Amino acid sequence: MSESPSTQVYEASTVETSPVLSVRNLKVHFPFKRGSMFKPDNGFVRAVDGVSFDLMPGETLGLVGESGCGKSTTAKAILNLVKPTSGEIYLNGKRIDGLSPSQMRPHRADLQMIFQDPFASLNPRMTVGSIIGEPMKIFNLASGSDLKLEVMRMMDVVGLNPRYINRYPHEFSGGQRQRIGIARALAVRPKVIICDEPVSALDVSIQAQVVNLLMDLQQKLGLSYVFIAHDLSVIRHLSHRVGVMYLGRIVELAKSEDLYRTPKHPYTQALLSAIPVPDPDIERKRQRIMLEGEVPSPDIVYQGCPFADRCSIVDDKLCRHTAPTLEGDDHQASCFKVDG
Ligand SMILES: Nc1ncnc2c1ncn2[C@@H]1O[C@H](COP(=O)(O)OP(=O)(O)O)[C@@H](O)[C@H]1O
Ligand SMILES: [Mg+2]
Repeated sequence: MSESPSTQVYEASTVETSPVLSVRNLKVHFPFKRGSMFKPDNGFVRAVDGVSFDLMPGETLGLVGESGCGKSTTAKAILNLVKPTSGEIYLNGKRIDGLSPSQMRPHRADLQMIFQDPFASLNPRMTVGSIIGEPMKIFNLASGSDLKLEVMRMMDVVGLNPRYINRYPHEFSGGQRQRIGIARALAVRPKVIICDEPVSALDVSIQAQVVNLLMDLQQKLGLSYVFIAHDLSVIRHLSHRVGVMYLGRIVELAKSEDLYRTPKHPYTQALLSAIPVPDPDIERKRQRIMLEGEVPSPDIVYQGCPFADRCSIVDDKLCRHTAPTLEGDDHQASCFKVDG
């Protein structure tokens, strides 16, 4: 890139509008061996099959889709926990896919994760103080008596009583454990947090509290989130934009209000129609689109649209032979039967 002063001015003025995280045509294919020695059947599970998106500073991008559609694998590939088969991942404009653990180290603090099961992801033999303090020590952010103060401050930030610093994870409720997970992620002052179904394992009454906490933290700290969920109701109030995933691909991507008001893809329409409406009159009258069949296996290679078999508006001539791609500017959908 040119080092001329005009380029620098241009870069400075676009700092706020460039993505913190960019994913380009990400594919993660897992090889599998099936069949017998005499009739081997080797193939690939196409867990993630061409995912692209940008995440802007301070933005929440919701990623939603049924179980098995590749949400967690997308998250793991971004975090360098699984190796992408192809594609590119950029953090603050720097390419991070394929980096070794030591090359990844300088980027680690900027990119953190909150897991679905706060119990499984917290070491049961460590106190809350060490769970939250350890990453601070590793990244040299605090030590000695400062470390304890910083951990207590972080506990306070996520709504945990700092007096419980010496307690163990099992002494906390599910919601509190997820707060510990959030504090641990925040401890290294990240810019981006990948949240993989962080509230799915929690009681509905607790889910809203954790979602509100994450939204508060975003406001205060300017965080960006990729927020993964398996249904559209959870991410509605939290996401600025939503990407709907089906079989390893994003099939619709739009601003939250546009996606909920005028869903374009028949799969999104079906997912939305599965959410009950609180008003019983409307609930009785409204039409439900039932999704037929199961999510097909991700090891099949599709000629046409992967959703064709379950689609209520499938055009046999068109949809079963050619695969649609994401089209449109702000509101993108991957379907031949919707405009732009
Ligand atoms: N390590 C792996 N080896 C083989 N297949 C995997 C592996 N991890 C995930 N998969 C498969 O990839 C697909 C997507 O999984 P996943 O990303 O966990 O989906 P989601 O999080 O949306 O439920 C599934 O079919 C799953 O069985
Ligand atoms: Mg998952």
